[in-house]
Amino acid sequence: MTAIIGFESSCDETAVAVIENGSKVRSNAIASQIAKHAVYGGVVPELAAREHLTAIRRVTDEALKDAGINMDQIDAVAVTNGPGLVPALLVGLNFAKGFAAAYGKPLIGINHFLGHIYGVFLDQEEDIFAKKELFPMVGLVVSGGHTSLVLIQNDGTASVVGTTLDDAAGEAFDKAAKMLNLGYPGGPVIEKAAKNGNPGRFAFPRSLTGGAGKALAPENRFNFSFSGVKTALLYHAKKICGDNPENLSGELLYDTLASYQNAIVDVLCSKAFDAAQYYHAKSLILCGGVACNSCLREHFEAGAPKHLQTFLAPRKYCTDNAAMIAGLAYRYWKAGKFDDMSLDAYARIPREFKIPFQA
Ligand code: KG4
Ligand code: ZN
Repeated sequence: MTAIIGFESSCDETAVAVIENGSKVRSNAIASQIAKHAVYGGVVPELAAREHLTAIRRVTDEALKDAGINMDQIDAVAVTNGPGLVPALLVGLNFAKGFAAAYGKPLIGINHFLGHIYGVFLDQEEDIFAKKELFPMVGLVVSGGHTSLVLIQNDGTASVVGTTLDDAAGEAFDKAAKMLNLGYPGGPVIEKAAKNGNPGRFAFPRSLTGGAGKALAPENRFNFSFSGVKTALLYHAKKICGDNPENLSGELLYDTLASYQNAIVDVLCSKAFDAAQYYHAKSLILCGGVACNSCLREHFEAGAPKHLQTFLAPRKYCTDNAAMIAGLAYRYWKAGKFDDMSLDAYARIPREFKIPFQA
C-alpha cells in the first residue's frame, strides 16, 4: 500500500487529504474560507494566505486522524505549487516542505489544473487512464480560475486546445451573483435560483460561437469568452431595475438566472462536443468547480455525441480539494519523479504538458 498526503492551498480552500494507491480516498479534509471572502464578493489573496496559515495545521491533523494513519506510514508528501494565487500557494508549499523535511519523506509538486482532471478518476473501480480505447480524450476543465479544453493522448501528452480569452466560467457565475447581490460563490446560488426559472425566456449571447451573425475566427473555435454575457446581464437588469440591478427579484430574477446559466452551459457543451468531433476523441471528461452544476452535468451527458464515453468528476472532487492532488502524485511517485526543496510556486499553466498516466 502506498499512502500519500496532499496539501492544497491555491485559492480559498485549505485542504489536506490522504490517498491510498492513487485512487482510494482515505481522508479529504477541507476548511473553506468562503464566509471570510463573501463580504468582498470574491477571493482576496492576502486574506486567503492568512487564513491558510491559521487552518493548515488543524486540517492536517484532521486528515491524518480521519485516514487512521500516522506520518510514519506515509510514503510521500504532495503539494499544489501552481497555478493559483501565489501568496496562498506559498503557505501550503512551505508547510509541505517542512513536513517532508521533518519526516524525511519525498516531496512532489502538483499542477492544480491537472489535479482537477485527476478528480475524475478518484474513488473509481477502474483505471480509465489505462484504457487505450478511450483516447484521444477531450477534457473540459471549468472552475473559478480556468475554462479550458484539453486534448489528452494515451501516453499522457496533453495540450490546451482552447481557453477563455477573459473570464472563466466560474467567474461568470461569481460576478453575476455579485452584480445582483446574491452572495459568493455565485455558482451554487445561481444554480438553485435557476431551478425555479424558465431558461428559454431571455436570449443571452453565446460569445465565440459564430451566432448573432458574427463569423467566428478559426483560431477562436475552441476558445471561450464570458465577459459579453456578463455585460448583457448587467444591461438586462438595468433595463428592468434602472440603476439598481440588485433589485431584480421574483419570477423575473429566476427566469433571468435560468436563461443566463443556460447560455453558459450551452457554450461550454457545444464547444466541448465540437472539439471532441474535430480531434476524433473517443471520450470526454468534465471537471472543476463549475462541474458541480447539475444543468451542465445533464447537458454534458445527454448531449455528447453518442459514440463518446463521458466521465464526470464526482461532485465532491469538483471543487478544490487535496484528494485530487495526492491522487495524481501517486503517478509521479510510481515513476520515481520527485521534487526537492527548491520547488517554487507559479501562477499560470503551460499550454503543453504531460500527465504521468502510464507510470
Ligand atoms: O474548482 P474551484 O473550487 O476553484 C478553482 O480552482 O477556481 O471552483 C470554484 C468555482 C466558483 O467560481 C464557483 O462559483 C463555481 O466553481 N461553482 C459552481 C457551482 N459550484 C461551484 N458554478 C456553477 N454551479 C455550481 N453548482
Ligand atoms: Zn481549482
